[in-house]
Amino acid sequence: MPELVCVLTAEEIDKKVSLLAQKISKDFQDRQLILIGVLKGAFVFLSDLMRRMTIPVEIDFVQLSSYGDNDTSSGNIILKRDVTSNLQGKNVLVVEDIIDTGLTMTKLIRHLKSYNPESIRVCSLIDKHERRKIKCHVDYVCHETESGFLVGYGLDYSEKYRNLPAIHHLKL
Ligand code: IMP
Ligand code: MG
Repeated sequence: MPELVCVLTAEEIDKKVSLLAQKISKDFQDRQLILIGVLKGAFVFLSDLMRRMTIPVEIDFVQLSSYGDNDTSSGNIILKRDVTSNLQGKNVLVVEDIIDTGLTMTKLIRHLKSYNPESIRVCSLIDKHERRKIKCHVDYVCHETESGFLVGYGLDYSEKYRNLPAIHHLKL
């Protein structure tokens, strides 16, 4: 049986998400903001984050899949669902669960730029450094980690563990 070691409790996540929501609300005051969640992993984080924000926001989603092993991105990224909103002239904040190699986010940003938004920023629940393959700037982060495979609060391993309220290190 894989072992789960808690990295962030639900209370700790709650505090960090609230702080981040305050900062984003301040930074985007009086600007037209759209949050774009990356399915499936970011939906839990996005739903908490948006409800703690104090400015009006729109939301949309993209879904990407990377056909690699269960625990690493292959870099062969396919857009399974695109945004349906018009991004022209809007400030986009991409909301992701975790940035690992950076390949997914780099490809997604390149794609979203083609819709001519006013700006694009990146918000990730987790920024994991060890396996970064491409430089990828993350503007807002809840938790930074050097390595380890994390699950819970939306993050999965083979589609499992997304429903856990805390974030855990999965030791296979
Ligand atoms: P990358 O930055 O292109 O390597 O890929 C990021 C994607 O890989 C994330 O959106 C997750 O779906 C998945 N991923 C990478 N590391 C983890 C992890 O520790 N737990 C769960 N999913 C992960
Ligand atoms: Mg993902």
